Amino acid sequence: MKFKSFNLLTHEDEQGALLPIEVYEQIPFLVKRAYFVYCSDFETVRGLHAHKELQQVMFVVNGSCDILLDDGHHKEKFNMRQREKALFLDKMVWREMSNFSENCILAVLASDVYTPSDYIHDYDDFIEKVRNDSSAC
Ligand code: TYD
Repeated sequence: MKFKSFNLLTHEDEQGALLPIEVYEQIPFLVKRAYFVYCSDFETVRGLHAHKELQQVMFVVNGSCDILLDDGHHKEKFNMRQREKALFLDKMVWREMSNFSENCILAVLASDVYTPSDYIHDYDDFIEKVRNDSSAC
């Protein structure tokens, strides 16, 4: 599978919560970009694309949302409700983010700079590319 969930460790005490990321140990690629998605609501559906080369790690730092991942062979919907849960997305994973709570902040670490030409916006094109990649020796 081209995606998986893994755990981060949040330190909680009477002062609040702190979520460290040891990039070299916990992230399976060199992080070149980070971005944050917020102010979406339960009616919003984001994503609806795959990336040809980009790898990403996603986790919520506040609130909750659902993230559907699909590598063309396997689909899984993750309920992102705990700060401990992170998702690794290899290249060529279709994603749909939905059901955002009002206070949701979704953090994303990415393996490359923002590159519009790396996006695949059409699901049928994505499936065709998965098939072509699988049949190539
Ligand atoms: P987009 O990737 O379409 O977000 P989502 O898939 O979550 O809906 O990006 C939304 C807007 O932000 C779009 O205008 C492109 C811009 N953007 C950047 O400028 N830099 C970035 O790193 C990202 C991810 C998006």
